[in-house]
Amino acid sequence: MSTVDTWDPARYERFAAERAAPFHDLLSLVGPVPGGRVVDLGCGSGELTAQLHRRLEAAETLGLDSSPAMLERASELPGDGLRFAQGDIASFDEGGWDVVFSNAALHWLPDQEELLERLVATLNPGGQLAVQMPANHDHPSHVVAAEVAAAEPFRAALDGYRRESPVREPEWYAALLDRLGLTPQHVRLQVYLHHLPARDQVVEWVRGTLLTDYQARMPEELFTEFLTAYRERLLPRLEDARPYPYPFKRLLFWGRRGGS
Ligand SMILES: C[S@@+](CC[C@H](N)C(=O)[O-])C[C@H]1O[C@@H](n2cnc3c(N)ncnc32)[C@H](O)[C@@H]1O
Repeated sequence: MSTVDTWDPARYERFAAERAAPFHDLLSLVGPVPGGRVVDLGCGSGELTAQLHRRLEAAETLGLDSSPAMLERASELPGDGLRFAQGDIASFDEGGWDVVFSNAALHWLPDQEELLERLVATLNPGGQLAVQMPANHDHPSHVVAAEVAAAEPFRAALDGYRRESPVREPEWYAALLDRLGLTPQHVRLQVYLHHLPARDQVVEWVRGTLLTDYQARMPEELFTEFLTAYRERLLPRLEDARPYPYPFKRLLFWGRRGGS
């Protein structure tokens, strides 16, 4: 995990409606747990966690995030069983949950197998795991970020680091959930087609998420250069259409732990 907090809630929320759609699709897979305990891993600024809490009729919902800036936004939401805490998903192993939920956060964790084994172990019998992660790493918006990171002077500043998505194929998750005793299960890859005003808005979109990783690893002036290089390489590879249709693949999965 990056030690510098480069998450910017205002930038992230610029595309709030587009980013909320997969959250609602994921939520619709989860059964209510009246009086139950829910955790939202990588909860961000917390508005969606509050919706999750109400929709699932939970007695207690914990939103966990490592970013102080994101949690600052959430500071006015707690109450009525909803609370937030700063913490790292990489070491999360507190048990006793009826739902472990995570929207657009687990792709920041490198070892998906170890992660999911650990999260399933925190579920109560009959508990549900629901996860959504971006799987758009073959789109130019992501490919070009890796190309720029591999070019000087960024390569030296990053000490050769390039972000590689740890997200695997849908069938890999289906097999893993089965092995971990999550039956029934639901696994799917879904394409969300976002209409952005113009192609340069893709830069803004990616800056709010993927590029935060590079931003955290280099001085501010160099990151400004990185953004310029990224824009120069990326835009010619995108159709100059208004609105620009930005296809974004996401993996959604849900499963229920046996034994209830
Ligand atoms: C793309 S945002 C998603 C926020 C929210 N779930 C939503 O759907 O709007 C990803 C969030 O994951 C958090 N995050 C990333 N890695 C994390 C980690 N290892 N532990 C805790 N939070 C993490 C970031 O701070 C950020 O708030």
